[in-house]
Amino acid sequence: MKLGIIGAMDVEVATLKANMTEKTETTVAGSVYCEGILEGLPVVVVQCGIGKVNAALCVQALCSQFAVTHIVNTGIAGSLDKDLDIGDFVISRDAIYHDFTCAALNPAYVTGQIPGFPVRNFPADENLVKLAYAAADSLQAGHAKIGTVASGDQFVGQKEQKEKIIADTGALCTEMEGAAIAHGAWKNGIPFVVIRAISDKADDSAEMDYPTFEAMAAEKCALVTRAMAKALTKM
Ligand code: ADE
Repeated sequence: MKLGIIGAMDVEVATLKANMTEKTETTVAGSVYCEGILEGLPVVVVQCGIGKVNAALCVQALCSQFAVTHIVNTGIAGSLDKDLDIGDFVISRDAIYHDFTCAALNPAYVTGQIPGFPVRNFPADENLVKLAYAAADSLQAGHAKIGTVASGDQFVGQKEQKEKIIADTGALCTEMEGAAIAHGAWKNGIPFVVIRAISDKADDSAEMDYPTFEAMAAEKCALVTRAMAKALTKM
C-alpha cells in the first residue's frame, strides 16, 4: 500500500510532513510531492493549492508518477448540516460538484451531473470510510458524520448560497477540492476518502469564523489522517 495524501493549503499538510521520516521531495507542475513514511505507512503528501483544477492535477500525478494505491483528501470545510459544529468531522460517503450544471441544455442534467458520466456522486471506498470514521470518532466521540461532500470553485459565505447547495446536493459540508479528487481517483480506479474538519458554517458568519478556526480545524484533520495511516499499516 502507498497512500497519497492531498491537502489544498500549507496549514492542511504541514503537520503531516513534520511527522514523516525518510523524506524525499519531487516537484511536478509546481507542486512538491513529499514521499516518506507516516506512522509506519509509505505515503506521498502534496499541497495541491486551492480549487478543483489544482486538485485534479495532483491526483493524476499521484496516480501516474507516484503509483499510489489509495488517496485521502484532508482539510477543512464549511458545515451544511445543523448538527455539525466547528471542529466536527465529515467523512465522505461520496463527493459531488455543486457548481457543475448543464441544466439549460437539458433539465435532466441536475446539478453535479456531467453529461455522459455514469455517476453524479463519486463513491468513496467503504473500507477507507470506515477507517476514517473510526479515527475521527476515537479523537472526539460522537462528532463525526458520514455523508456527501459538495465541492466547487467558490468560498461559500452567504446563507442563500449555502441553502442552494444543500437543496441541490444534500451534502453535509462544502469545500473546494474533494469532488475533483474523487473524480480523478474514480477515473484511475483508486480507492479514496475525503476527511474534513469544520472551520465555519458556510453562511454569513463564515468570513469571521474561517480565519479564527482554520488552523485548529486543519490540525484536527491532520490528527485523524495520522490515526488513519496508523490503522492502515495493520491492513
Ligand atoms: N473551506 C472551509 N470553509 C469553506 C467554505 N465556507 N466554503 C468553501 N470552502 C471552505
